[in-house]
Amino acid sequence: MPHKPLTPGRRTFLLSLAALSGMGAFAIADKFRYANRYLGATDALEKDFSVVGNASLRDRAAAKGLIYGAAFPHVALSSDRAFAAAFAQECAILVPESILKWKALRPEPNRFDFAAGDLMAKFARNHGLLFRGHTLVWHEALPQWFQESVNSQNVRRILLEHIKTVVGHYAGKIHSWDVVNEAVLPKDGRPDGLRNTPWLQLLGPDYIEIAFRAAAEADPQALLVYNDHWLDYDTNEGNTRRTAVLKLLERLKAKGTPIHALGIQAHLLRDKPYFNPAKLRSFLRDVASLDLKILITEMDVTDKKLPVDVTLRDHLVAAAYEDYLSVVLEEPAVIAVLTWGLSDRYTWLSQDEPRSDKAPVRPLPLDAQFRRKLAWNAIARAFDQAPMR
Ligand code: XIL
Repeated sequence: MPHKPLTPGRRTFLLSLAALSGMGAFAIADKFRYANRYLGATDALEKDFSVVGNASLRDRAAAKGLIYGAAFPHVALSSDRAFAAAFAQECAILVPESILKWKALRPEPNRFDFAAGDLMAKFARNHGLLFRGHTLVWHEALPQWFQESVNSQNVRRILLEHIKTVVGHYAGKIHSWDVVNEAVLPKDGRPDGLRNTPWLQLLGPDYIEIAFRAAAEADPQALLVYNDHWLDYDTNEGNTRRTAVLKLLERLKAKGTPIHALGIQAHLLRDKPYFNPAKLRSFLRDVASLDLKILITEMDVTDKKLPVDVTLRDHLVAAAYEDYLSVVLEEPAVIAVLTWGLSDRYTWLSQDEPRSDKAPVRPLPLDAQFRRKLAWNAIARAFDQAPMR
């Protein structure tokens, strides 16, 4: 990325930053140069993130026929009224972050625990939010008993039983289900690009189709989604994964599998400039041409390796949101955007991608006090500029 000279405007900005933070202009300029070179911070700092009006993300999305929402952390449900209020204000759809995963939902082979899921469904209903399910088949979050007692003889029965019970329990109350999550991993070396998961080992590659058929039978109304990650960037991995996911979707459609949408997790990393709008757009077009809808299901922007300065960090994170969403929302098949959490107070990245300097991470639209951040503005702007569905 070319290094831009310090123009008078930028110098004034840096000096005011320096005055605000109590740092010397030199240190700020140094940091700025570093960030500029590696992160494209020049553009981010100069970008205008202003929005018109005060309307929520929910309303801005709805004005374009889109749905905005977020993952809801279980810990916040009964304990954090302010979070719940912010959630109900900004969101139109709720997805439980963890309590519908196998480990939480099925503590023993013959016991399902719907208590937490039902509370969250009730919260959604009381606040007029759509409710989304995550996830029926995944290689993670499996209970201990799964490893101990599931084998190739009983796996089919146990999976079908699970889908029938869980999807049946929420039938008629759910917007969409992530039926299968993260089934593709080309570097596992299989010609079909599938990840070598316990499901694949025990049931063979047809486990995906089996799961979708069972879900459709248990709830013919729900939108059935295949959800996956690392589909965003112009890297070898990104290219290989987009191709493998597309092939999987083509195979499923060719067999008449009841699959209705692709979920793109969009956990973005904001430390390397390897986003390629043209490639992403053409991938989305290819998916849409299979008569599938697209949901952005778990968006957040990791700030792990960004400079610690909050102003700079927030600009960079916001720019990542707007750059990505403005490309993605051009595709009319995209019907929803969900972030993986709403406030920096509750984000999985605090544990999974903490900063080495221990500064709290800032990957989401609201800060830890539920105030709107620049990332909020960026999402709002992307919705405001999106074409109508
Ligand atoms: C994460 C949750 O956020 C964490 O709280 C949990 O401990 C592990 O799972 N992709 C997914 C999500 O599909 O289910 C993951 O959620 C994040 C990555």
